Amino acid sequence: MYSSGWYQLAFERDLDQITPVTFGNRSLMILKSESGVRITDATCPHRGANLAYGGRVVGEYIRCPFHGYKIGIGEDAQAINGLFVKEYPACVIGGMVLVALDDASAPDLPGALQTIGQDHGFVSGFELAVNTNIEMVMENGFDPVHFRVVHSLLMEPRLDISETDRGALQVTGEFSIPRSTWNSDQTSRAPVKARYTATAYSPGVVIAELSGEEPYNYQIITTAVPAADYRSCTIRLNVALPLNGNNEPDGQFAASLLESSREGLKMDCAIWDHLDQDHQDTMVEADAAALAFAEFTRGFRQ
Ligand code: FES
Ligand SMILES: [Fe+2]
Repeated sequence: MYSSGWYQLAFERDLDQITPVTFGNRSLMILKSESGVRITDATCPHRGANLAYGGRVVGEYIRCPFHGYKIGIGEDAQAINGLFVKEYPACVIGGMVLVALDDASAPDLPGALQTIGQDHGFVSGFELAVNTNIEMVMENGFDPVHFRVVHSLLMEPRLDISETDRGALQVTGEFSIPRSTWNSDQTSRAPVKARYTATAYSPGVVIAELSGEEPYNYQIITTAVPAADYRSCTIRLNVALPLNGNNEPDGQFAASLLESSREGLKMDCAIWDHLDQDHQDTMVEADAAALAFAEFTRGFRQ
């Protein structure tokens, strides 16, 4: 399936010394080491035990729970009997544990997150298992027509599509957000306008940004990894908010944003739970951004 690109495998807050994780049918593990977080294959090259269940880290090696051999962590460890597990580029930014499935993975998600982090604070949200493939989940931000129907948000059905200079896929459009208790200005009933930008960094990472009058200034980082059957997946939601006077994101606003995002995903799930994943789609003009996203994901496949 996917063989390149950056993905979020976990929230940093959930890590143990050794954390088993999966990406599709690959078994991986996250190791907390002195030099930071490392991510490797979890399958023992000897006879296939999962090293993350019962393995012990000993320096540059992991002691396999099955026959006890020392398995090198990465190619650089002096492999004993040629036994080592492949290591992947990995980093932790804003509480997200990120992996690149190959050494040359682009676009540069870590770089983009570091730029956001210069004047935003990240807040880790929640994890949600859903009954659809990751493409359907991530395409959400590129399907403007469903915003109106599923989420009652008004948006022009057209999104402008472009590619960023870093090779990410980007769409922009404009939202009209109905006035509600969220809007402090009760003197006007005109809907709030906000600029919407969604940027895909891989088939499993989309950053949606709203910029408009307060409080419509934030970024929602939605990530997903496929389950073994590639017909369901796990979503992780993170938000990035402008830093306030104390150099922190507004925790209360983050909580309400995460809650409304969860509600929004529940509305999507009502559709996703019953969607025909093998359907031959008949796309229409307003699906241009969704088609561009589908094309974008193709570049990450084997
Ligand atoms: S399966 Fe790991 S040492 Fe034998
Ligand atoms: Fe949606």
